[in-house]
Amino acid sequence: MSEEMYRHEIAHLARVELHTPDPDGTLWFFKDLLGMYETRREGQSVYLRGYEDPYQWSLKITEGPEPRMDHAALRTSSPEALERRVRSMQDGNQDGKWTEDEFGYGKTYEFLTPDGHHMSLLWEAEKYKSPPELRSKILSRPSKKPLQGLPVKRIDHLNLLASDVTPVKQSFERHLGLRTNERVVDGSVETGVWMSSSLLSHDVAVMRDARGARGRLHHVAFYYGVQQHTIDAAEMFRDYDITIEAGPDRHGITQSSFLYVFEPGGNRIELFGDPGILILEPDFETRTWTMDQIDTGTAIGGTNLPQETYFTYGTPPVGPDPESDADADANPVPGSPLR
Ligand SMILES: [Fe+2]
Repeated sequence: MSEEMYRHEIAHLARVELHTPDPDGTLWFFKDLLGMYETRREGQSVYLRGYEDPYQWSLKITEGPEPRMDHAALRTSSPEALERRVRSMQDGNQDGKWTEDEFGYGKTYEFLTPDGHHMSLLWEAEKYKSPPELRSKILSRPSKKPLQGLPVKRIDHLNLLASDVTPVKQSFERHLGLRTNERVVDGSVETGVWMSSSLLSHDVAVMRDARGARGRLHHVAFYYGVQQHTIDAAEMFRDYDITIEAGPDRHGITQSSFLYVFEPGGNRIELFGDPGILILEPDFETRTWTMDQIDTGTAIGGTNLPQETYFTYGTPPVGPDPESDADADANPVPGSPLR
């Protein structure tokens, strides 16, 4: 099988587990404001799904001492693709292990990225079957759009921070068959990559961690599909005291519309309006942005992505930056919101 044929062996981002020190606040954010359904509660964890997420859950919220990503799982396009991707990792001495202990999903191959992010691959996923009262008349929709907050449709993508972007990119290209659609370079250093297996501009992005930490999360994104909803969401977040970091605006990189906020536990969440460019060309060539083009790359509308948080804050937090007067990595969530 040629390298190019590996391209579609990863289908999409299926699920993410986030830890939070404020489980009540985090659940209020995802359930009441973003309209996600709760599908199960077990121990210190709650399982959630958006109304168009196809499986039992796309987001697991677990109480923990600090905000962070526990793991993220990509679903492969077939059982054979899963076996091939695992074999590629094993042949490349990238170790992992098989597990099968998550509600709604079958056997899963867990591995660490070269920067230490906990990732998984899986094929077996139980489809969500709605009870009669939640059944949608729109046949492609697994459940009704809830009358709650401003509901997101589904999970969209993952953005990881890495102490060194390039090895993570190379590993995803080689073992997962992801294509690097766009990247940013600062001189000879790769500072960001946007990678996909589907038609989307990115299933996974990796950005350089300005604090030099390893294996952190920048954000998880949830999909609206309508740019206006990012403006509507910003109004909701203002009224309900959720900290808005940047947006709404449109990135030049990926051409997608964005709004970044911090959920009450401290993890950065992106609300994704329209998905931006859909890449239909099978031989799309990687676009490389340089620092003199970066203003257009980050925000076409001129939004300033704040240096003091956007390029330095990730989860888990690593504490204040000793070289900066600004309290750069302080918790950006100023107290609990009213609820
Ligand atoms: Fe994003």
